[in-house]
Amino acid sequence: MDPNLATDLARFPDLLTAARDSAMRALAGVGERPAAVAPRPAAPAPLPMRGVGAEAALELFGQRWEPGFSGSAGPRYLGFVTGGATPASVAGDWLAAAFDQNVVTGLDSSAPDLEREAVGWLRELFGLGERHDGAFVTGATMSNLTGLAIGREWAGEQLGVPVSQSGVQALGEIPVLSGSPHSSIYKALSVLGMGRGCVREIPVLPDREAVDVAALESALSTLDGRPAIVVANAGTVNSVDFDDLRAIAALRERFPFWLHVDAAFGAFAALVPEHAHLVDGIDEADSVCVDLHKWLNVPYDSAVQFTHRRDLQTRIFQNSAAYLGFPGQDPDFVHLTPESSRRLRALPAWFSLTAYGRQGHAEIVERDIALARLLGARVEAMPGLRLLAPVRLNVVCFTVTGDPDQQRVDALVRAVNADGELFLTPSVYKGVPALRAAFSNWRTTERDVERIARALGNLAS
Ligand SMILES: Cc1ncc(COP(=O)(O)O)c(C=O)c1O
Repeated sequence: MDPNLATDLARFPDLLTAARDSAMRALAGVGERPAAVAPRPAAPAPLPMRGVGAEAALELFGQRWEPGFSGSAGPRYLGFVTGGATPASVAGDWLAAAFDQNVVTGLDSSAPDLEREAVGWLRELFGLGERHDGAFVTGATMSNLTGLAIGREWAGEQLGVPVSQSGVQALGEIPVLSGSPHSSIYKALSVLGMGRGCVREIPVLPDREAVDVAALESALSTLDGRPAIVVANAGTVNSVDFDDLRAIAALRERFPFWLHVDAAFGAFAALVPEHAHLVDGIDEADSVCVDLHKWLNVPYDSAVQFTHRRDLQTRIFQNSAAYLGFPGQDPDFVHLTPESSRRLRALPAWFSLTAYGRQGHAEIVERDIALARLLGARVEAMPGLRLLAPVRLNVVCFTVTGDPDQQRVDALVRAVNADGELFLTPSVYKGVPALRAAFSNWRTTERDVERIARALGNLAS
């Protein structure tokens, strides 16, 4: 055995204690760590020939790389839609690494049953019925890709083409209709061989990002009965708008389409009675995408996909081999997801749901929504800024007053992010250059919002 490996084995408990101390120092300071730091990569180092051992590696990491890491797990990181990691989920994640289960088949471990339990809890949390099965994947992009792949297979079934066997070229174009599709939908369609060009963007309602259902109906009527996929959006990234899922689902009585719902973070509206109506009808979807490293506040990378057509899912993702087994009535996870070997990604989610329950997670969602509204009110009152959309849920979308040209908005984003007090990301809302502040971290409090508002006020004036 390599001498460093042998020493590390002997000193494993000390190593884990040192790693824990290092993690605790980082976590204790995450509230004051700059939300974003200008990337400063360490000077390149050659591939070590003889290693230095894990404790020295920890020291080198601390010197060379850690100073360049952002405070993305902290309370004032409002870029993209970024969750933190609850204490229980961090513990679960560490244990997932320690046990290092490969959740492929149920031949050797009950880990797949733990994943099934976590999926069942999530299904209930988001108001989905038992006809939906699910699996963990790495993120909403993979979850969208999985749902769209099943939709593609369903379209093939309608046309008598087994796509997973004969290939997408045998299928011809399957139109994908959506009001405000997330960019990951285009990426997924490109990977699936359907092409980014198969998306037909349907008009949205005036001053909204939600699809105009009448326009969707009219677009479907032009397809002359050809099967299609409709991507409904439950939580758009700029204004967190929701399509009318029930009205869209009702159109299936007249038109053949697969209904995929991208509820990457909007699904969490189901946890708060005041907002649950926004995802009314989600159970009628054929496939649903929900991200967990966003509002469930588990570490990257984690999402879940749901569908009620596990048979089609298995046709696509089966990975049959004599040594792996073949999909039966209740297929192993190796036959269900784009990944074959898979970490026990369910464990952090299982830990967090066990530790804090529905109530604890609902409190995080409710608080983040209240904080977004508070910042929205502050922004509205600031002389140099104006809201671009009402704060519907957890994102404040705003711009500068006067002519909000791209240069002025970019300059403000740069100044805000260089300041370090908060981090946010730019966007374009209905053609207007914008800034977005997304609240999805369990640590954020009113005091943080006051600090955020103060920093924004100073920089925008
Ligand atoms: C609505 C929506 N869909 C999909 C995604 C893609 O998520 P991920 O980056 O986890 O793949 C996002 C990410 O922000 C999103 O907001």
